[in-house]
Amino acid sequence: MSFKEELQKKTAEIEEILKEYLPEETGFQKTVLEAVNYSVLAGGKRLRPMLMQETFRMFGGEGELVKPFMAAMEMIHTYSLVHDDLPAMDNDEYRRGKKTTHAVYGEAMGILAGDALLNLAFETASEAFQMEISPRTARACQILSRKAGIYGMIGGQVVDVESEGQPLSREKLDFIYRLKTSALIEASMMIGAVLAGATDEELAAVESVASDVGLAFQIQDDILDVTSTLEVLGKPIHSDDKNNKTTYVTLEGLDKARKDVEEISQRALTTLRSLKYENRFLEELIQMLITREK
Ligand code: IPE
Ligand code: IPE
Ligand code: MG
Ligand code: MG
Ligand code: MG
Repeated sequence: MSFKEELQKKTAEIEEILKEYLPEETGFQKTVLEAVNYSVLAGGKRLRPMLMQETFRMFGGEGELVKPFMAAMEMIHTYSLVHDDLPAMDNDEYRRGKKTTHAVYGEAMGILAGDALLNLAFETASEAFQMEISPRTARACQILSRKAGIYGMIGGQVVDVESEGQPLSREKLDFIYRLKTSALIEASMMIGAVLAGATDEELAAVESVASDVGLAFQIQDDILDVTSTLEVLGKPIHSDDKNNKTTYVTLEGLDKARKDVEEISQRALTTLRSLKYENRFLEELIQMLITREK
């Protein structure tokens, strides 16, 4: 199977796992349940659950314990996008090739659908405790909560919106990217590693790989915001300019940004390859992200 075929097959498998944990659209709160399913099932690369599962496999993980965490991670990621698109934040109309959740269901329902997904994520992750009560399941929950919260994604989003219209230092920009984007990617790979029994030393290496993958990923996202199209990207271009954001591209220029995506990704791959385990697909996936167009 080619990498592309393998990627498609694995993405389809993740879609099936996600569906297992999504709510039925019944009851008086039906509207928010529809909005939840709409936002998650709109598509998306499913990169975070994929990184989690592949890291799990890399460290020899087997069985179902990773599944609730994969679904929980994509729910948290999706909620972060639903809220990121709200009028009070980036105010965007398209996401994953469709109208944003607030554009379809209204702003109040957009806020509530995000809240609902965040809560459902922890309800879903807790299913792991029904399968196994152990230090590794507890650790995985702890990583998920911390990296999604004020010391992770939310913290990064706070500084991101606070910095609109202001000149930013590289140091502060790096801080924002490591939190708003790398944190969930770190959590994804670390949870996969922890559940497969990685040592603390291996976990630290995984965190550093994921941190670089996330940084390169956000720089590429900034690049695509100026070079892509709505049709290819599935979300509006020039969103950063519209919101007067300082980005990696405005700070360093397009050429350096492209060069750094390559360099930072290669650094991630070098650290990944220094581990005593191997996952060829995971390496190819990180390599592919360097030239991704969406
Ligand atoms: C978008 O993430 C938000 C960023 C961190 C840049 P993705 O590019 O992974 O979005 P989906 O899940 O594929 O829609
Ligand atoms: C990453 O930043 C957003 C999140 C952490 C949710 P962006 O605001 O650049 O993401 P996109 O471009 O809207 O996907
Ligand atoms: Mg944003
Ligand atoms: Mg945005
Ligand atoms: Mg962006």
